[in-house]
Parts: sequence; C-alpha cells; structure tokens
Amino acid sequence: MSTLKYAEYLQMETLLSLQEPRTPHTAGRAVVLAEQLFIITHQCCELWLKQLGADLDAAADALLPPGETLDLELALEFLLRAAESIRVLQQQMLVLEKLPLRYFAEFRTYLGTASGAQSAQFRRLTTLLGNSHHQGSLYEAFAAAVEYHGQSVHDICRRGVEAGVLHRLAEALVDLGNGYWHWKVAHLALVSRMVGEEGGTGGSSGVDFLARRTTRPFPELRRLRGTVHHP
Ligand code: HEM
Repeated sequence: MSTLKYAEYLQMETLLSLQEPRTPHTAGRAVVLAEQLFIITHQCCELWLKQLGADLDAAADALLPPGETLDLELALEFLLRAAESIRVLQQQMLVLEKLPLRYFAEFRTYLGTASGAQSAQFRRLTTLLGNSHHQGSLYEAFAAAVEYHGQSVHDICRRGVEAGVLHRLAEALVDLGNGYWHWKVAHLALVSRMVGEEGGTGGSSGVDFLARRTTRPFPELRRLRGTVHHP
C-alpha cells in the first residue's frame, strides 16, 4: 500500500504558502489577519469557481444530443452539485461581512487596480449561465436535449413531474440560477457595506455597476415556467 500522507496528497505546503498579505507587519496583527481573510476568501471562491465551471461544462456535454436518459441523469447530478457549490460562494460573502471596515480601508490601498471583475473563471461562468437577456450555453444545451426528446421547454414546464428527468433538469437550472443570483446579491450587499459610494479598485462605479449586473439567468425558462399560472 502507498505511504502517501494527507499533507503530501493535498500539497499543503504549497497551498498554505499562497496567502501573502501585503500589509506590513508594523500595521499590527489585526490588519494583517483581516487582509489574510480577504485573500483566503477570494482564493476559496476561485477554487469553487474551478469546480463549478468544470461541473457545468460536464453537465452541458451530457445534455447535448444524443443525450439518452442515463446522460440526462448524469447531467442532473452535475447540476445539483453545482447548485450546492454556488451556495458555498454565497456563504463566503457573509464571512467577509465580518471584516472590520477600518482594517479594510487600511489595506485596500495595497490592492492597486486588482479587482474581482478581472476573474477569468467568473467570466467563464457567465458564458455558461448567461444573464437576464442572454441564455448562456448551459440553457442552450438543455433546450437542445429537450428538442432531441421530441418536446419543447414549454411542454416540460406545463407537464411538470410527468415530464420526468427533463422536468427535474429544468428545476435544477432554476435552483442554480437562483443560487447564482443570491451570490450576486450577497456580494452586492458586502460591497455596499465595505465601499459605500466609493468606486471599485477595478475602475467601476462600484455598487451601481454591480447592481446593474445582478441579474437572474435563464430568462426563457422563467417565463415559460410562469405560464403554468395561465393554463
Ligand atoms: C470586501 C470584499 C469585497 C469588495 C469590497 C469587493 C468589491 C468589488 C467591486 C467594487 C467590484 C466592481 C468592480 C470594480 O470596480 O472593482 C467587484 C466585482 C467583482 N467581485 Fe468583488 N468585492 C469583494 C469580495 C469579493 C469576493 C470574495 C469575490 C470572490 C471571488 C469577488 C468577486 C467579484 C467578481 C466576480 C466581480 C465581478 C462581478 C461582475 O462583473 O458582475 N468579490 N467587487
């Protein structure tokens, strides 16, 4: 049997060497720890975005025709897992709300022009999920799967549980979209608390910019689900 140990398997030494606050130690322990929390939260978010992006890519691949029933079940597993991962992202925003504003104001100067808006993995996620005007590649894969099975998204919404796995997939997309929305709202609330009316380090207007971008994905699915109120 291999003698591989936990620390080696997880590359703990490398992992724990990656958090390097820029605040000088002379600023005091509390400020350094606040910046460490800021760095760890961002790094954790990026790790979850890595898993999320890969899971959603795998879900889209499994949905694309000819996705037979087993592939659809597989896609559903990926989507359900992704919806849970997004909740972790939201939760991390709540931890950051406990970052004392006075310490944030102190180390913010060291961030330069670095901003979450430059996150390549976040951009990739928005391509998959789309927004309230644009469907995104994941929904397109779902719509293609529905069509391949000789149905329409409207039928799936109307038939509900009778539509089986296609209905469960539609509901999982709604969960995922709402999870994403909750995450964006939580980030918006955090930013409002931390920067108020100030602009962002990435050069945007801050809260106003983010509020405009806090939209719900899968507009067509939401609209078609709503028609259940008018049989
Ligand atoms: C105190 C904590 C935080 C503050 C004050 C903050 C502030 C901001 C601001 C002001 C923006 C707008 C762009 C700009 O001008 O910089 C932004 C965008 C963004 N931030 Fe944060 N952020 C915080 C935490 C986080 C965390 C933990 C993440 C996780 C990765 C994150 C991810 C993002 C992303 C993905 C965007 C782009 C959003 C979009 O384009 O819709 N932020 N942030």
